[in-house]
Amino acid sequence: KKIKIIGVPMDFGQLHRGVDMGPAALRYSGLVPRIRQLGYDVEDTGDVMVPVRDQGQAKSSSGDANYLQEIIEVCERVYEAGKKAISENAFPLFLGGDHSIAMGTIGGVSHNTQTGVIWIDAHGDFNTPKTSPSGNVHGMPLATLTGDGDPGLLEIGRKGKKIDPENVVLIGIRSLDDKEKERLKKSGVTVYTMRDIDEQGINTITNKALMKFVHMKRIHISLDMDAMDPVEAPGVGTPVPGGLTYREAHLFMEIIADSGKLSSMDMVEINPILDQANKTAELAVDLTVSALGKRIY
Ligand code: ARG
Ligand code: MN
Ligand code: MN
Repeated sequence: KKIKIIGVPMDFGQLHRGVDMGPAALRYSGLVPRIRQLGYDVEDTGDVMVPVRDQGQAKSSSGDANYLQEIIEVCERVYEAGKKAISENAFPLFLGGDHSIAMGTIGGVSHNTQTGVIWIDAHGDFNTPKTSPSGNVHGMPLATLTGDGDPGLLEIGRKGKKIDPENVVLIGIRSLDDKEKERLKKSGVTVYTMRDIDEQGINTITNKALMKFVHMKRIHISLDMDAMDPVEAPGVGTPVPGGLTYREAHLFMEIIADSGKLSSMDMVEINPILDQANKTAELAVDLTVSALGKRIY
């Protein structure tokens, strides 16, 4: 199997600078050689083009969804790159950038076949411009992908909803805005909070997610590094205490790898400026090789 690495150094989905350096931090941590060691053919396709951020303007386009035009433009390119990789029967590995890139990645990889999405995050990313308290688009990608939100964002790649809410599992949740929570409850998305993981264990939760996708040929993982405990992954813009441990995250990836269904993945929200040395990117590389089948024994 061929792995195509697609960098998306995009930080328009939130207001911190630095998350645009995520792809560089991951490459610096040895991502490409580490995946090659597993025996894969790896092609690093470089980064998709991202417009320069105008430092003078904090926000653009509209008040309730910041940097809308820039995000749409980048996500269109990401969509095409993902679609192309899947058409070539390759495994696209997307390096963010903030989580708004998922509107392109998941749209693109699901263009021809139903794909089960496992969204690992402290947050729901289920806001619309109407419910968002921040106006930051990285809090909206899952809502958009399942069919709700800004009309411009809904047009990325192809018109309208990209995935059914029934085909989404959220894991690691511990911070939801009030209206976002109401929307999520009505949506049909399966939600596993940190409490569920504490009570049942990550083994059970991961196997439940796989059971849900038992009839699906493909699974996409969208990993927001803020799902991890901030002690393990300090380099994120919106940290929330009480996240996944190192062992829990690895076991999750190992079980998913064993399913043989993982067909694409996002690694997002790594902010090297907020990191301790390059700890968060290094963890992300370790988790990626686990997801791609690295075995201890
Ligand atoms: N719920 C908050 C918001 O809408 C935070 C979203 C954080 N999202 C993320 N991808 N880190 O602004
Ligand atoms: Mn998050
Ligand atoms: Mn997220």
